[in-house]
Amino acid sequence: MKKILIINGPNLNLLGKREPTIYGNSSFEDYLETLRHRYPTCDIAYFQSNIEGEMINKIHETGFTYDGIILNAGAYTHTSIALHDAIKAVTTPVVEVHISNVHAREPFRHVSMISAACRGVVIGFGLDSYRLALESFLG
Ligand code: DQA
Repeated sequence: MKKILIINGPNLNLLGKREPTIYGNSSFEDYLETLRHRYPTCDIAYFQSNIEGEMINKIHETGFTYDGIILNAGAYTHTSIALHDAIKAVTTPVVEVHISNVHAREPFRHVSMISAACRGVVIGFGLDSYRLALESFLG
């Protein structure tokens, strides 16, 4: 059984309530339930934090034993060299995910500090971005 961790960063605890025209109406917990049903052979763990250091701690904690990490770093994507370094420091591959198409939004969202440290990037498919990232670990 593959061990996959999804990490969601700041403000993603408000999915379903937060700017629904951009991020949709579904809570992440509801989405996660459908994802776990669809992939019963995967052990999908979930962690959300609004605090950069807690996300880094979680990457350190899991980054030598899990098969994959799916990371939506929220706005820290655009600022955090510390997250870039944490991703580089571990052996577990990390796939960067975004719900919205950040390249069709404000210019400050066009830059990612973490992409170069990640195995790949999935952007703009709504919540389905997480599933597509999960598929990349199953091939
Ligand atoms: C996001 C895009 C980021 O620019 C934003 O700060 C988020 C969510 C996305 O999933 O589309 O919080 O990562």
